[in-house]
Amino acid sequence: MRETFAREKPVIQVKKLRKEYIMGQEKVVALRDINLSVYRGEICCIFGTSGSGKSTLLNQLAGLEKPTRGQVLIGGVPVSLLDENQLAAFRQRHVGFVFQSYNLLPELTALENVAMPLMFRGMPKDIREREAMKMLARVGLKDRIHHFPGQMSGGQQQRAGIARAFITRPDIVFADEPTGNLDSKTTKEVMAMIRKFARKFHQTIVLVSHDPEMT
Ligand SMILES: Nc1ncnc2c1ncn2[C@@H]1O[C@H](COP(=O)(O)OP(=O)(O)OP(=O)(O)O)[C@@H](O)[C@H]1O
Ligand SMILES: [Mg+2]
Repeated sequence: MRETFAREKPVIQVKKLRKEYIMGQEKVVALRDINLSVYRGEICCIFGTSGSGKSTLLNQLAGLEKPTRGQVLIGGVPVSLLDENQLAAFRQRHVGFVFQSYNLLPELTALENVAMPLMFRGMPKDIREREAMKMLARVGLKDRIHHFPGQMSGGQQQRAGIARAFITRPDIVFADEPTGNLDSKTTKEVMAMIRKFARKFHQTIVLVSHDPEMT
């Protein structure tokens, strides 16, 4: 029998997280006692001024850095207990990233950039390209698939970045200032796109920004 009132477990759970950086004699406390739960299908926005620790928090959540103290649980698994290989596999399988500076590979076309995560999953080229084409059409870049990043505007590059992050249907997408380099109209478009994908695939988004207006 199903438990009628059983609550869904959080996808991400952060418990008493602390991150210190040691710089010579100095100790920088970047995160202090962070507690946080994010559920499937939620868009969690983290706001804060420059230097408040937003990127540091994302880095701990994605397992890119080890916390000084406390725990990050993803799907109930403590990320800090995974070794490098397990972490890489976990990121490849479950996580997508969107970056402020887009981070597309300059020598690859939009199509090749978006198809890239599927290559890491060992998918054959024709399927990769077909899926990438679909994603690029979804983000309105059907007529830019053969353009290199240098031949696209910032907004177009970010839309390609979003297509790349979502192409594997990851459980979680981490986005660090995804609209930081975009004007307000493009910001709205990009946010609408992220929301649309998250809703369509019931994914969890953790998004960092210094601007509460952006949502
Ligand atoms: N690798 C590191 N070594 C030492 N100190 C660090 C390191 N990374 C971050 N810090 C410090 O931790 C604090 C938080 O940095 P973080 O990059 O997380 O801020 P942020 O909120 O993302 O800022 P921004 O909005 O400018 O991107 C800052 O004081 C920064 O100097
Ligand atoms: Mg930052």
